[in-house]
Amino acid sequence: MNSNKFSVSDSELDPAKLPAHVAIIMDGNGRWAKKRLFNRIIGHEKGVETVRTIIRACHDTGIPNLTLYAFSTENWQRPKYEVNALMILLSKFLKNDRQEMKDKSIRFNAIGQLDRLPKKVRHDIEQTKSFTRDGDAMQLNLALSYGGRSEIVDMVKAISKKVLDGQLDPETISDSLVSQHLYTARLPDPDLLIRTSGEMRISNFLLWQIAYSEIYITDTLWPDFKRDEFIYILKQFEGRNRRFGKVAET
Ligand code: FPP
Repeated sequence: MNSNKFSVSDSELDPAKLPAHVAIIMDGNGRWAKKRLFNRIIGHEKGVETVRTIIRACHDTGIPNLTLYAFSTENWQRPKYEVNALMILLSKFLKNDRQEMKDKSIRFNAIGQLDRLPKKVRHDIEQTKSFTRDGDAMQLNLALSYGGRSEIVDMVKAISKKVLDGQLDPETISDSLVSQHLYTARLPDPDLLIRTSGEMRISNFLLWQIAYSEIYITDTLWPDFKRDEFIYILKQFEGRNRRFGKVAET
């Protein structure tokens, strides 16, 4: 008997029921480190390993879009040494992993207020984007300096400008027009939102886009989150009855 409580193999997944877009709030690096009396930065370093594991798992299972919440607009308020360490980890990740992304045909993208990031990180983002731009197996989106409310404010500004310029009739503003003016313009809304480390909140992530996302919250801390649990969550997602506000089909 397999004692692993998450024992679902990739082959047990129904390809027709895979989410087209998985979004993840990666939480718990600090607690993982604290439990071991380590510096929080060690927790973030372990967190990068989980980032790799989950990108590979998405690629292997054929999930076409993955969005990871790596740094929020609120995270700028963390101690300077922690912000710096996260920026260094980010640059290292982009430089180390872009070849693997390209080999796997993964297109890299970043969403958020990217102009607030250090010049070096912006450069590494641009390099990684152009290096992987032909990837058509999967799109990886890192949400960086990202806030759902700021994204909505930016969308309102962009739409208002078009109205003032006479390019847009306010009567034609629709759900889909709003979606097209968000950072995620060319992405489908997430079908599945995962949050690690047990907190029951959204933390300003993809506020518009998660209207009908299935939510899965696990107590596992991000550095302990492994491929087997991710596959298990995909299996749970298969069994969800998504009604989008309608009644169930009989
Ligand atoms: C939450 O843990 C995590 C973050 C604020 C950052 C996520 C960053 C990584 C996984 C590593 C860097 C990412 C890339 C893509 C290179 P927390 O510090 O809030 O944990 P806590 O709530 O337990 O304190």
